[in-house]
This record gives sequence, C-alpha cells and structure tokens, in this order.
Amino acid sequence: MPNKEMLLIPGPTPVIDEIYEALARETMAHTDMRFAGMFSEALSITKKMFNTDGEVFVIAGSGTLSMEMALINTVAPGEKILIVSHGYFGDRFIGVANALGIEAEALSSEWGKQVSAAMIEEKLQEGGFKAVTVTHVDTSTGVRSNLDELVPLVKKYGALFILDGVCASAALEEDMSKEYGSKQNTIDVILTASQKAIGVPPGLAIVAFGPQALEARKKIDKVNSYYADINNWIHIMREPFKYFATHPVNMIYAYHTAMKIIEREGFAKRYVRHTAIGKAIRAALRTYDMAILAKEEVAAPTLSCVLYPAGVDDAKFRSSLAKKGLIVAGALGPLNGRGFRIGHMGNVTDQVLCTALQVMGEALEEQGVVVDSHEAVRTFEKVFAEHNQL
Ligand SMILES: Cc1ncc(COP(=O)(O)O)c(C=O)c1O
Repeated sequence: MPNKEMLLIPGPTPVIDEIYEALARETMAHTDMRFAGMFSEALSITKKMFNTDGEVFVIAGSGTLSMEMALINTVAPGEKILIVSHGYFGDRFIGVANALGIEAEALSSEWGKQVSAAMIEEKLQEGGFKAVTVTHVDTSTGVRSNLDELVPLVKKYGALFILDGVCASAALEEDMSKEYGSKQNTIDVILTASQKAIGVPPGLAIVAFGPQALEARKKIDKVNSYYADINNWIHIMREPFKYFATHPVNMIYAYHTAMKIIEREGFAKRYVRHTAIGKAIRAALRTYDMAILAKEEVAAPTLSCVLYPAGVDDAKFRSSLAKKGLIVAGALGPLNGRGFRIGHMGNVTDQVLCTALQVMGEALEEQGVVVDSHEAVRTFEKVFAEHNQL
C-alpha cells in the first residue's frame, strides 16, 4: 500500500512497502538460528557499507544512544574531546560529553557554514584531545563536513576521529578503510541510526568501531554504563543467537531488508543518486526564489534548509502543505519562522520529490507568490539526469 503522506522531514524518511512487510512478519525468538542468520547478514552488509573489518553494533535505541556509545567506549571521564559543530546536532555532543564526565570544547560555525580547518588546527595544537567529533551532515543546517580535509587534520594530532553519520550513512560515502593521506589516517568510529537514509523507522542505534577505537576501549577500565558498553555486545554481534538483552526482532527484519535494498542498489550508485537529488532539489527550489542556507560547496545531499522569499508565512505555508499530504520540518534555532527543512534521502523517489515541488508551488501561490511549478519540475529532472551518473 503506498504511503498516504509524503513524509519529507529530515528523518524519519518514507518507509517503502518491502520494509513494512519485513516489519510485519511474525516475531521469532530472539535466539532463533534463522533470526541470527538474518541478523548476521545485515551486520555483514553494514560492514561492507562502512568498508570495515572492525566491530559493528546494531541495538535498540536511537541516534543519541549511538552518540553515547561512541564516546563512552573511547573516552574516559576526565579526558578531553573537541567537538566540531555545524549546528544543533553537533552541539548535542556537548550535552552527551557533559553527562559522561568527559571534558568538551566546541568549535561552532555560524549556521549554514563550516568551521574552518585553520580554527580546528589552532585548537588541536593546544594538545590533549583524545577524540574529535564531526557531524557528517548537520540536520539543522544542511551543512556537510569535508572528510578529505578533516580526517588527516585530526589524525595529525593523534586524536580519534568520531563521525556522526545519522543524517548521512547510506547516502554519502563513509569508508573506514580509506587512508586519508596515510595508513593511520582513518575514520575510527561511525555512529548512526535507522530512520534516515537507511530508510527504516526510528528505533535502531548503529555504531561501527575500527581498530584504533577498539584499542581505546581496552584502555578504559570501567565504562559507566551496562547497556552501552560494547564489551557486553561484541560476542552477541558475532553470534546473534546469544543473549545479552532482547533484540528488537522485527526492527532487525526491517533493517536486514533495508540493507539488502541498499546493497542491491549499489553503494556507489546510491551515493551518486543522493548527490544528484540534492543538486536537483536545490536548483528547483531556487526557481521559486527560495534560498538555500548552505552554499552549494558545503550543501548536503540528504536535506536542505530552505529560506522563504519575502512575504511567506511559515505556519501557513507548512500547514497548507500538510493539508495536501506533504510534511516538511520547521527551521531550527535562529532560523525558526524564516524557512523550512526538507529531507531528500533514503528510499524517496525522484517522482515523489517532483510531486512535492508542485505542492510547494501551490502553497506559495496561495500566499500570492507567483511561481512556475512546471519550470521547477523541469529543472529538477534536468539537473537530476545530468548528475545521476556513475
Ligand atoms: C546528525 C544527527 N545526529 C544525532 C541525532 C540524534 O538522533 P536521535 O534523534 O535518533 O536520537 C540526529 C537526529 O535527528 C541527527 O540528525
């Protein structure tokens, strides 16, 4: 059954039938060998996606639990981290670190921009940072981080590189074996969640640890959490029929199906499709005189923070969209009321995005803004076709 609404908030994203069908299958015992086989296959596709032989954990929880797992297993209380923040979700690491007794210093960019490499380097030169957190795509601003620049910079100062992929994994390349300049220069931890570009409903925390991060865990005597301590999960993820805490069985069915869909599409093809969708939707929205908060060089393929042309009322615009079956999210923080956020990731199709453009055109016309929605759709199709090529 097709979805009744176009859920184009930046996560959760539209869930497709194949994944709903998996969710609705009869619940098995969490120790059943058939279930364990499925879980192992899902983990092995996840390892392929992140290109790692390290340890991958998929447990019940949300992205915030993944953030906690990443920090609590690599940084001891009293040690210091640097947070590179491009918005609300970058800043969230401050709260997580504070709760765990980890000292945190944050470098926050102006909304819509990146923190400069020079500022990060100046801070790292002070020394003593055990890890640096980087949000691959900040969901509040639609700003993407530049891994080619940041990974070698952080590793030059011997810190662990912790990547928040909640709004990026399965849409942007996140390769833990990629050597950014030299052998040691790799991403050490990727943390993510099920509800965005992976296309599963909310409910799974997903974390991958590479060799340097696993070494860091060994050096921590006692982790102040039972559920989030990876030592309690490593042998379970290797043999998922074993018990530590009950697996979210139906969510794992859904995750397994989602990972097979991603593998079937092809990782590289999926990344290119997202890049093309991002460019196409931004170009189309500009034909409506809307501005995109992030400059094109730093704009994310997964979501856009869009600023209204003069005279558009945010509440009226979004409620008109909702009546027509299109759900977008409000802009956060200082931009609240001045724009909206639209997700364009996961298993969303280009056809749905074209329909969304038409609906947005109607809602703008209701407020007296003259637009040409055919032109917007044509722009989307042209830019998408140009860029959706491997
Ligand atoms: C980039 C990013 N990190 C972390 C989170 C927190 O994830 P959750 O809301 O699933 O706890 C979010 C949520 O949207 C996010 O977008």
